[in-house]
Amino acid sequence: MCQLHNFRPKRDPCSAANINEITVEHTAIKWTVSFQLKMIIGQATLRCRCLTDATKLVLDVRDLSIRSVSINGVDCDFRIAPNVYTFFGSKMSVYLPPQFQKAGTILQVTVAYGTSPDATALQWMKKEQTADKRMPYLFSQCQAIHARSIVPCMDTPSVKSTYEAEVTVPTGMTCLMSAIGQGSKGDDDTTTFFYKQPVAIPSYLIAIVVGCLEKRDISDRCAVWAEPSVVDKAHWEFAETEDILASAEEIAGKYIWGRYDMVCLPPSFPFGGMENPCLTFLTPTLIAGDRSLVSVIAHEIAHSWSGNLVTNSSWEHFWLNEGFTMFIERKICGRLVSEDYRQFMAFNGWTNSLIPAVYEQFTPTHQFTKLIQDHTNVDPDVAFSCVPYEKGSALLFYLEQKLGGSEIFEAYLKDYLKTFAHQAIDSWQWKDHLYKYFADQKEVLDTVNFDLWFNGVGMPPEKPNYGQSMVEACEVLLKKWLAADESTVGDITSEDYYAMQPLQQIELLSQLWQHDPPIEHYKLDALNKLYKLNDSQNSELLLNWLRLCIKSKWEECIPKALDFVNSQGRLKFCRPIYRDLAQWPIANKKARDVYLKGRSQMHPITAEMIAKDLHIRHSTHTVCF
Ligand code: BES
Ligand code: ZN
Repeated sequence: MCQLHNFRPKRDPCSAANINEITVEHTAIKWTVSFQLKMIIGQATLRCRCLTDATKLVLDVRDLSIRSVSINGVDCDFRIAPNVYTFFGSKMSVYLPPQFQKAGTILQVTVAYGTSPDATALQWMKKEQTADKRMPYLFSQCQAIHARSIVPCMDTPSVKSTYEAEVTVPTGMTCLMSAIGQGSKGDDDTTTFFYKQPVAIPSYLIAIVVGCLEKRDISDRCAVWAEPSVVDKAHWEFAETEDILASAEEIAGKYIWGRYDMVCLPPSFPFGGMENPCLTFLTPTLIAGDRSLVSVIAHEIAHSWSGNLVTNSSWEHFWLNEGFTMFIERKICGRLVSEDYRQFMAFNGWTNSLIPAVYEQFTPTHQFTKLIQDHTNVDPDVAFSCVPYEKGSALLFYLEQKLGGSEIFEAYLKDYLKTFAHQAIDSWQWKDHLYKYFADQKEVLDTVNFDLWFNGVGMPPEKPNYGQSMVEACEVLLKKWLAADESTVGDITSEDYYAMQPLQQIELLSQLWQHDPPIEHYKLDALNKLYKLNDSQNSELLLNWLRLCIKSKWEECIPKALDFVNSQGRLKFCRPIYRDLAQWPIANKKARDVYLKGRSQMHPITAEMIAKDLHIRHSTHTVCF
């Protein structure tokens, strides 16, 4: 059975590419960025290798205007067939002339094209929408399947290609990419930036930012970029990056990507962070003023190994990217803070992320609560949740405890990353390697119900043991709040709260939120006054605070909640708040109005997902025939 895995054809239901016949080894991009047209115009040359005899090359595209296709310089025939589901884009078949149809042939396929102003990978911003209001701004987000809207490609994580790019932008603007800069040249009107990514990467890691950007160095290999008015704050907030990277290397091995730069994007960036190689993208909501949210950097750094080096072969095995990354992120924080802190983070993930995802966001029988998912006709943006993150990380945490503890498991982790570096794998390849590595503990592994972990819905079959030392302070304080009544609530003092770590404060709010019946309004008022919750600069804390207020139907919080979802576009914050408000009759209309008013300025992914949450019809989510 195990040997068969090598012969199993690769599967990725989210891509139309003929990956078992042809592969892409290098991609050369030439782009001109037009802010007037909201288009990227140019060409991509794909160096392809025929793995078997083949009559055509099939690529993924979405809303691209194709001008011409040539093979080794000679124009050739192609055809574009839309998928019934618009989120898949279209299948582009390039017909190979007879002399190029043999296994082993190498082809240079050049596609000249332009993107659509509605390309789902891109957000085009007017200068008025930026922090400094000096220049327009453009950024991409290709994960999971949006790369096809900016470049014709085999848009599956199972195909890895090196890339180089020449990008022409208006002079005065800076272009950054997920690659190593090779300088720039230009004149008064336009400047061309040159980039090379010498490590083969999946298409979802191609990334671009164009804007008014300044850089601050953090170390020899780390720097942060942001708009001028933000860059110094970002530089202070992320000053620990080199230490995090050094600690990650101790856990995972040498950092092979050369540079680790970051760009702090506008608030509409839909994610906390995105692990674009050489250039992590970050939300500005991480700037809390006290470095309390830098675990996101540890997370994106961890992806330099889990995800970017060892890659899930399709989004059905997303946990191999994100579960491993959560696990390594917590290992890094364990080293930098303490083992107790790592245990607390993992506990927090189980109780405050996994449980609500299984019971509240989905239901315990929902397909998306599985570790390995079936993405046939499924939009990966819709399937996205913290389940692969937390179920995956819990499985590794559980295995660590079963197989002899942290040291033994770290040696295994290094071996896993080394074995599969530069490859894309599925969960069965992961399991085969685990059994091989721990051959002397086969009986122990046989007691793990992998079938339930992989394919079971709902919560995992086992719960790991999480050290409780840091949870205790939260529980003591929780009891105080629950025991208080209107006459004694004023006796609670703030020292024990301020003595806690920010993550413990968040845990307290989350426990109050989980409590039934909902917390009374006078207590919310007292909590707010004592801990200055409305004024918190910590966006994670604010999320938990607002959800607590909404659960109690405390009307005073509605303007604050609307302001929160309007001032930033991080899905992790906006989706739960919008969903909570939508379920509350007096807030429902206000939430819809705020969404409808802001929609045209929103990031395309956020606009799409919030429309779904609010049950509002949205232009791109219909089926196209
Ligand atoms: N790679 C993800 C973001 C992502 C996943 C984008 C799937 C598109 C599709 C990134 O590494 C991530 O997980 N970001 C998290 C933060 C993290 C600390 C859990 C986020 O955005 O919240
Ligand atoms: Zn991640």
